Amino acid sequence: MSSENKKKLFIKTYGCQMNVYDSHKMADVMSTVGYELVDDYANADMTIVNTCHIREKATDKLYCELGRINKHNKKNNREMMIAVAGCVGQAEGDEIMRRAPYVNLVVGPQSYHQLPELIAKTSHKKSERIQLDFAADEKFDSLPAETTQSGSSVFLTIQEGCDKFCTFCVVPYTRGAEYSRPAADIIAEAKRMADNGAVEITLLGQNVNAYDDGKSRLTDLATKIAEINGIERIRYTTSHPRDMDDELIAAHGSIPELMPFLHLPVQSGSDNILQQMNRKHTAEFYLEIIAKLRKARPDIAFSSDFIVGFPGESDKDFEDTMKLVEQVNYAQCYSFKYSPRPGTPGALREDTVAEALKSERLAQLQALINRQQNEYNKKFVGKNVKVLLDRKGKYKNQIIGKTPYMQSVHLTTKLESFGNIVDVRITEMHANSLGGEIIDIKKDNIAA
Ligand code: SAH
Ligand code: SF4
Ligand code: F3S
Repeated sequence: MSSENKKKLFIKTYGCQMNVYDSHKMADVMSTVGYELVDDYANADMTIVNTCHIREKATDKLYCELGRINKHNKKNNREMMIAVAGCVGQAEGDEIMRRAPYVNLVVGPQSYHQLPELIAKTSHKKSERIQLDFAADEKFDSLPAETTQSGSSVFLTIQEGCDKFCTFCVVPYTRGAEYSRPAADIIAEAKRMADNGAVEITLLGQNVNAYDDGKSRLTDLATKIAEINGIERIRYTTSHPRDMDDELIAAHGSIPELMPFLHLPVQSGSDNILQQMNRKHTAEFYLEIIAKLRKARPDIAFSSDFIVGFPGESDKDFEDTMKLVEQVNYAQCYSFKYSPRPGTPGALREDTVAEALKSERLAQLQALINRQQNEYNKKFVGKNVKVLLDRKGKYKNQIIGKTPYMQSVHLTTKLESFGNIVDVRITEMHANSLGGEIIDIKKDNIAA
């Protein structure tokens, strides 16, 4: 089909990296029925909004975006099909249809492989809300092997869903029970990605280190993926402290492709709050894992997620969080004010923390985190580090690369050898990135 005959599809993605992966997969499915991706809804024949339900603000964004698209369509007298996918689609499909009746289609994260047939059924005048059973195996089996995901750094979903039921979190309800894809399928997909130019693969799962297909665990996968020609870097996210087994910890010392950076969310440093969050481990247990990982791979850097103002969080509980952050010394962190989510046990609690106090604690925590991040980055100035040239920057001749430790490095160079890992001398640091100069291009690092 020539490009003029193709229908135009715009996908707007919110939420986590798994949603980014899903959006690529939706584009893959839609390309089998003649849709090509465009980067704006202005001229699209169809828009998919891939949504996130994790915090109230994330959900609000959906309704703003839908309102904007509808206004644009009305003003320009356009008939564009609008679909809502992702976790809000799963959690509140009926609500979406009620609040935004111009939406044609709602699909959950486990049913987007059915998009072509759903679209065939849905006329512009009739809405469909198709859901929403959790058949992850069926989804992965029906997705096309070819992928639109390109570039040197790619995502690969290996595990989906969550059985942990932390009392603040919607994910077990929106993504269903834990499901691990068969290792052979994952390796095959990783090989195709390498053939497409991938140098760095990030393995994704809501509980990625709980991966278990009955035969292989995450360490087995990492070992096999490290052997694939062209793959130089492997990462995985998001891990749960309870699933950090000794084998995986040891792998950080023995598999050089496993990058020395780990996102290991702890949420709180207070045993009392951890228990009420149903995290099923203590602060001490977490600190022990961090110590073991540092022993296996001394240069490993850490990041975490934190929630402040969970119901019942006292000043003492919050101090324990600050203390834990001091003890770990993170390279970067994400922190959020607790947001009560419908259907979760936390939302039923009456001992809520006042919004102003949440804001105060968040500011205090973020000041500490920023200080640690700055101190961490400062140590790199004047040093050489391996940087994967990843993508174009905003400015002319600017390239953005990534260090093994997940720092973005901004480089000014005419050289456009994306996918190369080069030696860079770090010359400066900015708020969230580093700046530097390429000092060497190693030919043997050029991806095949
Ligand atoms: N599976 C991951 C986290 C997935 S959600 C884990 O176990 O850690 C990503 C992050 O969003 C969480 O780590 C948490 O910090 C934050 N989050 C989840 N629910 C939240 C809520 N109700 N309010 C505020 N932050 C929340
Ligand atoms: Fe949510 Fe907890 Fe599952 Fe992570 S482990 S996805 S925070 S329920
Ligand atoms: Fe959001 Fe769903 Fe991911 S709720 S964080 S898009 S799993």
